[in-house]
Amino acid sequence: MTNTRGIVSYDYVEFYVGSAKSTAYWFVNALGMEHTGYAGPETGVSDRVSYYLTQNNLKFVITSSTTPANHDVGSFVQRHGDGAKRWSLLVEDVAKVFEDAVHNNAIPITIPRRIEDDSGYVEQAAIRLYDDTELVFSNYDNYPGVFKPGFEEPRVRIKSNAARPNLLCIDHIVGNVRVNEMDQWATYLNRAMDFETFVDFGPGDISTRYSALLSKVVRSKDNLVKNPINEPFEGLKVSQIEEYINEYHGTGVQHIALLTDNIVTAIRSLRQNGIQFLEIPKAYYETLRQKNDGLPGAAKITENLEEIEELGILCDMESSGYLLQLFTQPIGDRPTFFFEIIQRRNGAEGFGQGNFQALFESIEKEQARRGNLDR
Ligand code: FE2
Repeated sequence: MTNTRGIVSYDYVEFYVGSAKSTAYWFVNALGMEHTGYAGPETGVSDRVSYYLTQNNLKFVITSSTTPANHDVGSFVQRHGDGAKRWSLLVEDVAKVFEDAVHNNAIPITIPRRIEDDSGYVEQAAIRLYDDTELVFSNYDNYPGVFKPGFEEPRVRIKSNAARPNLLCIDHIVGNVRVNEMDQWATYLNRAMDFETFVDFGPGDISTRYSALLSKVVRSKDNLVKNPINEPFEGLKVSQIEEYINEYHGTGVQHIALLTDNIVTAIRSLRQNGIQFLEIPKAYYETLRQKNDGLPGAAKITENLEEIEELGILCDMESSGYLLQLFTQPIGDRPTFFFEIIQRRNGAEGFGQGNFQALFESIEKEQARRGNLDR
């Protein structure tokens, strides 16, 4: 199956942060990213610095402003704190995907343009997503240099002795929106990008004793790009989605799931590098063992369950295959953005629906510690 928009793959995610240097240091030393490129005053970019960080097919740009005159970065960080400003898709034809999107009601942010230097050009365009996020379309066919014009190989690389988690690429990117906005944004992406609704969790599907949320997954028809969207649903206490909206002061990217082909090694490395994950209650693993014991031999979990429990990894069985996943604590100062690490076995396509209960109870415990659970 192909997608009609000529999407090749996920490309990069750019974060706007208070201090790009410090955040890049965390990405390199905790997440195991490599410092591949740099843009700033030394490379002819006067109002910002950006660190271009890579690992296999994973690409992040960490940007902060160097002057109060840079309202784009400055006002974003003042309002939202550190967060994902834009994510890019690598596409075959930037102008075509942009025109198709805008023709299907996408809100244009950047019309197709060439960003040039002496060695070539990169083509980019962007449409709006949520309050203050952008979905970018990029093509690098005519650019042989580091990332894009303005970037160079770093003169001094951020050094690291970090353990290597071997993260491969982005699996999915999740957005949080307000009450009654989920359907709007799902329809927006389905129309603009020719996506389809894959799963739809309604009232009662995802709830704990205290709080609830609604979730809809839209994806490209070839399952290359997966974009779950959550909105709060009424409960006794404050939904984790509502906490995000309050603390982020708006809607935006909640988490990015990073794909690995060996989650045991990945989580062991990331824990060794000091990354903190959500704590999973012991009882979860008793239930998991019982479920696994009931499965026919071929469907059983191949990983060592002792190790899965020791590392606090979650496992969700599907009708075909299973997925392993774990969520970091929010990476910044506000309880907003976090990462997920995910491994899919034997064609598992879901998002860990079976883990929602254990997971959200764990999130609510953290929320209560912050004093954000009670109204
Ligand atoms: Fe996820």
